[in-house]
Amino acid sequence: MLATSENFERATQLRLLLQKADREYYELDSPTLADNEYDALFRELVALEHNFPELVSSDSPTQRVSGQASATFAPVRHAIPMLSIRTETDSTSAGASVFDARVRRELGLDADAPLVEYLAELKFDGLAISLRYENGRLVRAATRGDGETGEDVTANVRTISELPQRLKADGVAPRVLEVRGEIYMRRSAFLAYNAKQVAAEKTPLTNPRNGAAGSLRQLDPAITAERPLSIFVYGIGETHGFTMPATQSGLMDALASFGFPVESSRRVSLGADGPQGLAQFHADILVERAKFDFDIDGVVYKVNSIALQREMGFSSREPRWAVAHKYPPEEARTVVDAIEVQVGRTGAVTPVARLRPVFVGGVTVSNATLHNFSELARKDVRVGDTVIVRRAGDVIPEVLRVVIESRSEHTVAFTMPLHCPHCNSDIKRDEEVVARCTGGMVCPPQLQGEILHFVHRRAMNIEGIGDKLAAQLVDSKRVRELADLYRLDAATLAGLDRMGEKTISNLLGEIEKSKRVDLRRFIYGLGIRHVGEVTAKSLAQRFGSVEALIAANKEALLAVNDIGETVADSIIDFFANDANKAAVLRLLENGFTFAVDMAPATTAQLAGKTFVLTGTLPTLTRDAAKAMIENAGGKVSGSVSKKTSYVVAGSDAGSKLTDAQTLGVDVIDEAELQSLLAPNSV
Ligand code: IVH
Repeated sequence: MLATSENFERATQLRLLLQKADREYYELDSPTLADNEYDALFRELVALEHNFPELVSSDSPTQRVSGQASATFAPVRHAIPMLSIRTETDSTSAGASVFDARVRRELGLDADAPLVEYLAELKFDGLAISLRYENGRLVRAATRGDGETGEDVTANVRTISELPQRLKADGVAPRVLEVRGEIYMRRSAFLAYNAKQVAAEKTPLTNPRNGAAGSLRQLDPAITAERPLSIFVYGIGETHGFTMPATQSGLMDALASFGFPVESSRRVSLGADGPQGLAQFHADILVERAKFDFDIDGVVYKVNSIALQREMGFSSREPRWAVAHKYPPEEARTVVDAIEVQVGRTGAVTPVARLRPVFVGGVTVSNATLHNFSELARKDVRVGDTVIVRRAGDVIPEVLRVVIESRSEHTVAFTMPLHCPHCNSDIKRDEEVVARCTGGMVCPPQLQGEILHFVHRRAMNIEGIGDKLAAQLVDSKRVRELADLYRLDAATLAGLDRMGEKTISNLLGEIEKSKRVDLRRFIYGLGIRHVGEVTAKSLAQRFGSVEALIAANKEALLAVNDIGETVADSIIDFFANDANKAAVLRLLENGFTFAVDMAPATTAQLAGKTFVLTGTLPTLTRDAAKAMIENAGGKVSGSVSKKTSYVVAGSDAGSKLTDAQTLGVDVIDEAELQSLLAPNSV
C-alpha cells in the first residue's frame, strides 16, 4: 500500500515537531515536550516510515542523531561518530528476550547454539561526553552535538573533580584514549543548588539533566565550577596504543583502573542466566532506581564480547549490539483541576495541585506539590493550566512548569489564602518563605499531624494509631488535644471503623504502657519546631522534667549543648503560647513516670555541691530548679549548714538567707545558678 497524502503530511508534521523538540532539548536546554510525548511522536514516525518506506527522508530525526553544535564553542569533529542507542519503552522486562532473539538472529545462531553473554548497565540521564586523553593527559572534552561534530567544552569539563586530569596507569599510558560517558548532576547536588538559588531569590534549575546541560554549556568555567557536575563513563571512541579488552565488562574494569568513575550496578548475564539475567536486572533496577543519587531513564543491554560487537556492527544511527530499555518517564503533561492548600503538623501551609490523573515514573499521579507560595508565584501555576509534572524516584511529585502556550484566556493567578481553609485561623508568613496557619491544635490537620508524631515509634511508641484512625479521632472530635488520647476508653473507641474488641484492647494497652516513658521521647513527641530527637535528649538530660523545661528561660536553653538561637526561640515561643502550655500540662495530668538518662559527665558539673533554695525565683519553679540541680549532679537540701555550697535566693527570701549570711555561705541568684548549670562552667 502506498502512503496517502495524509500519511505524508503527518510524517512531515512529526518531523517538524521532533526537530523543534530536539532543538529545545539539546541546544536551548529548555524542553517544552515531556519525555513520554517525545517518545510517542518518535514511535509514531518510526511506524509511519516503516509502513511507508517512501516517506523516509534523510533529514528525518529517525535517521540521524539529534542536536547541533552551537556556534559559541569551537567545533570538534569526532573521529568515530558518537551514536545513539536503539531505545524501546519496556516497562515489563519482557524486552530482554526480544533483544536476545534479535541478536541471535543477526549473528545467525540457531536455537541450540550457546547463549550470548550480555552486559547490563544503567542508562544515565545526562549528556553524552567525549574525553580525549593523549599520553595519559586530558586534552579535550567534547559534547556529542549531531554525532559527527560536537562542541569543545574542555574548560568546563576540567572543573569536574571526579574526572581524572591524568590517567592512573601502571605502565605507559595509551597514546590516544578517547573515553565516552555521561555528565550528570547528582540529585543531592541539584537540590542543594536549588535551595541556594531560591534563598537568593534566583531561578532554580528545572531538573538535574537540564542543570547539567546548562552548566556544561556555560561560557564561563567559573560558573560551571559552582554547579557540581559528576560523570560516569561507559565506552570508548578513538584509541591508539590501547589494548582493547575482550569484553565490554573488561573494558569497564580497565576504565575504572585508569581512575574513571564507573557505576557499579552493571551486571554480566552469564551462561544459564541468558536473557533472564537481563530481565532480572531490569526489574531490580526499577525498584532500586529511587535510591540512586542520580537520574536514570532506563537500562542498557550490550553484547559483552567485543568480537561479536564488531561482527554485528552499526546501522546509520545506532549499534546493533546494544539496546536501551526505558522506564516509564518521570515527566508527563497534564491539567491542573484545582489548587488547594495543605496544612502540616507544624502549621506549614503548602499549596498542592490537584491534577487530572497521569501516569508518570511508574505510578498514577493526581496530586503534586507546588512547594510554597513564592514558588507558586514564580511558576505562576493557575487552575486550568496545562503543566509538566515530574516524579523522580520516591520524591513527591512536583509541578515543574506551565505550558504557557496552552493557557486559556480565562485563568487567574492564584493568591495565598488569608485564612486557613480547615480552621479559619489567620495564615501568617514567617521569616522563612513558609506560610503558617496560626490555629495550632485547633486546626484539625495540625492536630492530626501532632497525634501521629506523638505516637510515633521514635516518640511515645504507641502502636495502632495510623493516618486513618488519627483522622477519625480528630474528625469525630473524640480527640481535641493530645491529653484526650489518655481519656479514650473502650466505649468511645467502639464506634470507629474497623475497631474490634481485640484492636481496642490492644490500643488501650499501648496507650497505658506509654505512661512509662523516657523523658526525651516525651519531649520529642511534643513536636516543638526544631526539637528533633537529639535536641530532645539534651533537653531531657539538662532539665530533668517537663516542668523545668517549661520554666527554662532563653539563657538556660542556650546553655544546653548544641542549642542555638533558633531552637531556643522556638521552645520559648512554644510554651509562651498559653494554649500549648495548658495542653502540655493537661497531658501531664495523666500520670507519667519519666525515665531520665544519666547526664553525661560533661554536664555533671555540680557533683558534690549542695544547694538550698529560698524565695521565689524569677523564672524557675522550686521543682524545676531542684530537678536541674540534681540533674547536673548536685544536691538540694532543706536547711542551710556550713556544708551548703550555695543558697539560691529569690524575692521574699526568708530565714535561710539570713542563715547563709551568718554562716558565710555563698548566696547566688537564679542567673548565677543558670550559669553554674551551663556545661563546662565549673
Ligand atoms: S552506550 C554506541 N551506555 O544514551 C553506544 N549510552 O540514547 C553508545 N547513555 O548517547 C552509547 N547511559 O549519552 C551507553 N550505559 C550507557 C549509557 C548511555 C546513558 C546515553 C548516551 C547515548 C544515549 C543514547
